[in-house]
Amino acid sequence: MADSALSVRTIDESDLPDFQRVMAWAFLGDHSGEDSKWLKVLERDRAHAVFDGDEMIGTAGILTREITVPGGRQAPAGAVTVVSVKPGHRRRGVASLLMKTQLHGMHESGEALAMLWASEGSIYRRYGYGEFATSIAMLTMPTRMAFHPGVHVSDARIRQVSREEALPVMREFHEQVRTTRVGWLSRVEHTWDVHLADREVDRDGLTSYRYCLHPEGYVVFRVKGNRDPGGPANELHVRELVCTTEQAYADLYRFLLDMDLAGEISFYTAWDDPITHMVDNPRKVRREAGDALWVRLVDVDRALPLRTYSSDVDSVLEVEDSFCPWNSGRWRFTVKGGEATVARTEDPADVSLDVAALGSAFLGGVRLSVLKRAHRVVEHTPGHVDALTTAFLGVTEPHCPEVF
Ligand SMILES: CC(C)(COP(=O)(O)OP(=O)(O)OC[C@H]1O[C@@H](n2cnc3c(N)ncnc32)[C@H](O)[C@@H]1OP(=O)(O)O)[C@@H](O)C(=O)NCCC(=O)NCCS
Repeated sequence: MADSALSVRTIDESDLPDFQRVMAWAFLGDHSGEDSKWLKVLERDRAHAVFDGDEMIGTAGILTREITVPGGRQAPAGAVTVVSVKPGHRRRGVASLLMKTQLHGMHESGEALAMLWASEGSIYRRYGYGEFATSIAMLTMPTRMAFHPGVHVSDARIRQVSREEALPVMREFHEQVRTTRVGWLSRVEHTWDVHLADREVDRDGLTSYRYCLHPEGYVVFRVKGNRDPGGPANELHVRELVCTTEQAYADLYRFLLDMDLAGEISFYTAWDDPITHMVDNPRKVRREAGDALWVRLVDVDRALPLRTYSSDVDSVLEVEDSFCPWNSGRWRFTVKGGEATVARTEDPADVSLDVAALGSAFLGGVRLSVLKRAHRVVEHTPGHVDALTTAFLGVTEPHCPEVF
């Protein structure tokens, strides 16, 4: 329960210095005029602050985005960001008040999906966000590995160019590709400034970004200097690899693997990045998993039909949602020919689950059958969890390439 002395409102320009200070102190960063890349993307009318009297003590924002969902559709979604509470004011309900304000606002405006990246794993499930809605793989691999026979490399030219030359081309490629990849988001002009921020402070001791263009894609990476008397040891840290064709993907990976003076490549990428299956020794591609997007169905009945499904199903879902009670209760979820309808029902439940479980499964990232084994989904009518699991699965693992 929020402390009754607290108030919450949207911010205006005059609030920005305080907003920035609260964020910096909360995230244990430096507060300087320079350190404002997140403010560039902030939508003032969707940014909230909590006050204790006149003192700003909490912040949160929503960015208006589209996310690609299974079926290749673009669904409007609120990207929740800059959630922070000033040290000394924590555990008195400030974040909960911000979460409630956001979710009620989205419910009223009809935005059926919310999503975020969590700084810590134990914060957001209580607000109905489902973990591992997309996951991320940290891949590391040695350079110079051969490709498996049959992986063709074309003779397309790959050119390293300046950031100015690369950006317009990258924007176009990204816009083409993001609508085909489940979990990818629309970008606005300033997303690029944040995602590819390249000030000294953003580099963590690595070089500035290198931009390489292929006729059908691009790769952006930094280099971490490393010496080894035994051979090349510099590390290529890939930021983004975007290709409109599978051929370009092979060409650009080959380009990185063959980079002179480099010994290792690392890349935060999709869990099912095909490189593991392209090289002759898949075990040499080391893969560490992490959670990426957490997804929240703001309105179950409007969110579920936003995507298509892999098979027909007809189940009554009993949804538990204490934070957004309008979702609680029984819903008949029917899929015919890939399209879903969701309607209130008094019929007995086939499956019971909390709303966060639906968020985890929504993009096809977590199987409902696994959540059943985790005691998060309860089956009342045999066979329904398996049927739902199959229906929710997509063609690829969902993946979100950018932190917001
Ligand atoms: C995470 C943060 C925003 C929480 O703010 P807060 O105002 O203390 O949260 P609330 O008081 O509303 O907490 C609500 C509940 O969540 C729990 N909770 C909050 N933060 C938690 C954390 N980091 N770990 C575990 N539980 C947490 C509280 O204990 C409380 O539980 P209860 O309802 O059972 O009592 C705040 O600690 C913070 O600013 N952290 C640093 C920045 C950060 O990590 N932001 C999140 C970015 S994704």
